[in-house]
Amino acid sequence: MGERVTISVIKADVGGLVGHHVVHPALEETAEGVLEEVVDELIYDYFVTHVGDDLVLIMTHGKGEDNSEIHGLAWKAFQKAAKVAKELGLYGAGQDLLSEAFSGNVKGLGPGVAEMSITERPSEPVIVFAADKTEAGAWNLPLFKMFADPFNTAGLIIDPSMHQGFRFEVWDLVEHKKVELSCPEEMYDLLALIGSPGRFAIKRVYPKQGSPIDPNEPVAVASTERLYEIAGRYVGKDDPVLVVRAQHGLPAVGEVLEAFAFPHLVAGWMRGSHWGPLMPVPLEYAAPTRFDGPPRVIGLGFQIKDGRLIGPEDMFADPAFDYAREMANKVADYMRRHGPFEPHRVSYHDLEYTSMPAVLEKLKDRFRPLE
Ligand code: 13P
Ligand code: 13P
Ligand code: MG
Ligand code: MG
Repeated sequence: MGERVTISVIKADVGGLVGHHVVHPALEETAEGVLEEVVDELIYDYFVTHVGDDLVLIMTHGKGEDNSEIHGLAWKAFQKAAKVAKELGLYGAGQDLLSEAFSGNVKGLGPGVAEMSITERPSEPVIVFAADKTEAGAWNLPLFKMFADPFNTAGLIIDPSMHQGFRFEVWDLVEHKKVELSCPEEMYDLLALIGSPGRFAIKRVYPKQGSPIDPNEPVAVASTERLYEIAGRYVGKDDPVLVVRAQHGLPAVGEVLEAFAFPHLVAGWMRGSHWGPLMPVPLEYAAPTRFDGPPRVIGLGFQIKDGRLIGPEDMFADPAFDYAREMANKVADYMRRHGPFEPHRVSYHDLEYTSMPAVLEKLKDRFRPLE
């Protein structure tokens, strides 16, 4: 077994080129400049990318999770990029930098964070997913498929080192609590929770005894922090990131990707207020347009070696995902025809803190009792 390495994926929307469409290349270059300065000092390696209008920093280092230097670095990169966004007049410049003051950790300040410290295996395949125009709970269905559904992941049945299943750490984003559920034994309890992705989100997945991986090390981690921090006060969707390890006692790369072959419905899209299909796309198409969507997910594959990021491979740049994209387009069209009607528009409850109060306030004197 190799050294401990931490993978930190930290993202923020610091401004969009033409509305909420895409990250301007100058923002990525600015962030790259900040990270390049500290390679071999603070960090081992980095890759900067985007999905839609979200700037994504992928970093490897030896500092562990929640490290103030690493978070400070990300904050600096976002601040600098936001400054460029303001100079270019990009839309929503600095959108996700909710506070001016950085005090050691970006959590609660707006950016999304997914970090995992792992013992690097001789060959360590990792896939970083990033989604735009949706929320953290959007990972619930694909994570369940990868790590608990034998119809997705053949290894759960035929690989003896996976046969015992996995443990899921689920966060209640409203009551700020977490619970661990073990699959397959507690599968129905797990599904009861994660079937409500606006309330419960899978934060981490862990292996169980019998796995070649240390059961204390996560094998998948998602960003949920912002939702957690602002629970009770709706300020939009979080455009989450997800890190998944693969192979050798874990789902194979193809089993991980297979979970996105079905473009399931997620909340987000236009004004963060509509349900639509999550379309798996190569980087080239990580730029939502129709009705600011439909929501998108990219998947970048890396091999991690001595903390270096070997890659990336653009995992959805494959005609094998054309059918998922075609289905997503059909579903998007079907949903769109509902216009302002639920279930295209998110539920009344979800708009309770945003648009509904103003409408109800305006009409309040015109409401009459029934009978
Ligand atoms: P504004 O155009 O008022 O910023 O709000 C709409 C929006 O961009 C949210 O999608
Ligand atoms: P983002 O959350 O990607 O900034 O999108 C906001 C929005 O309102 C899109 O219509
Ligand atoms: Mg935006
Ligand atoms: Mg976005």
